[in-house]
Amino acid sequence: MTSKEEKEQDDEGSFSSKKQSGPLYLEVEELEGIGPAMKAKLNTAGIVTVADLASKSPTEVADAIGSDIQRATEICEKAREKLVEMNYLGENFVSATEIYKRRKAIDRISTGSRNLDDLFAGGIETQAVTEFYGEFGSGKTQICHTLCVMVQQPLELGGLRGNVVYIDTENTFRPERIVGIAEARGCDPQVILDGIIVAKAYNSSHQELIMSELGKQVREHEVKLVIVDSAVAHYRAEFLGRGTLSERQQRLNKFMHALVRAAEIYNIAIVATNQVLSTPDTFFGDPTRATGGHVVAHTSTYRVYIRKTGKNRVARMVDSPYHAEREVVFILDEKGVDDPPEEGSSRRKQVTTS
Ligand SMILES: Nc1ncnc2c1ncn2[C@@H]1O[C@H](COP(=O)(O)OP(=O)(O)OP(=O)(O)O)[C@@H](O)[C@H]1O
Ligand SMILES: [Mg+2]
Repeated sequence: MTSKEEKEQDDEGSFSSKKQSGPLYLEVEELEGIGPAMKAKLNTAGIVTVADLASKSPTEVADAIGSDIQRATEICEKAREKLVEMNYLGENFVSATEIYKRRKAIDRISTGSRNLDDLFAGGIETQAVTEFYGEFGSGKTQICHTLCVMVQQPLELGGLRGNVVYIDTENTFRPERIVGIAEARGCDPQVILDGIIVAKAYNSSHQELIMSELGKQVREHEVKLVIVDSAVAHYRAEFLGRGTLSERQQRLNKFMHALVRAAEIYNIAIVATNQVLSTPDTFFGDPTRATGGHVVAHTSTYRVYIRKTGKNRVARMVDSPYHAEREVVFILDEKGVDDPPEEGSSRRKQVTTS
């Protein structure tokens, strides 16, 4: 089980001061054409490494260095090329075999429920944005809390021994719930809490600012999972009325694309939650659909719809490039996300005793 000693051993000492090397840590001045003045401007905007640069849109880079889009695009491309040269990113044109090989190396985080893991063919993937949407109380925040514990577990227990950035936009992050889930899963709650960096986003601009500083957190704290609970709430609250719809969708689009790029460049899993719109005129079928419109629907890699049925929860894979559209049942209990007792009791025993 995760203990302080094990984690410290793995980290070779201090949790945050470890000197890292490798493609993810290559600083921007290593790129040809980036002198001290530009480096300073980039650093001020939170762009410290070549990977940070590759994870930004040309518009963001243009804003940071005060250049036109063309110059910024060249710099972003140079950053990508450097990462390709270092074998960190793939070439523009690669064989399907190569992609297949690379996809096998994608890491997965267990959700805490075997059924829900099965829906994802093994767990939440890194290099992807997974969206959970559903009505209030369906369990989206519970899934996020459970993932905070699961990602810190060792590989054999479904984790990645990584840490978490939790972007809380609805003020629903509860450390007490983390402690409860950690204890129920036999982990040291203090170690688990230490592995979660919480960023409270007060409005959509603040949410975007937090996102722009993500690279630093990922690097310094060995983050493997980023949660945004919820991605859309601030945008919905701030942009009211038809007249503001296009600006809202543009801003949301930028934010969602920043999530997708960060997932790929930093090899992390990103989980975003989303509310549903009630359409009261619908009496038959499911009277709900996700907010955020096409922007969120088209940028998320995987979309899962959660609904309540009595005490159980049902998760349906709604959109995935390769999973079939199907449903599984899970429950919420002291362990957070869990399997219903009749299906999962023997498996759950295995997990807690190993
Ligand atoms: N300690 C617990 N043990 C068991 N179930 C719990 C516990 N804490 C919360 N729950 C369940 O989780 C539900 C709330 O789920 P959650 O907060 O994840 O909903 P949500 O989908 O995030 O809703 P919203 O859209 O309002 O954010 C509660 O109604 C309760 O059923
Ligand atoms: Mg919630």
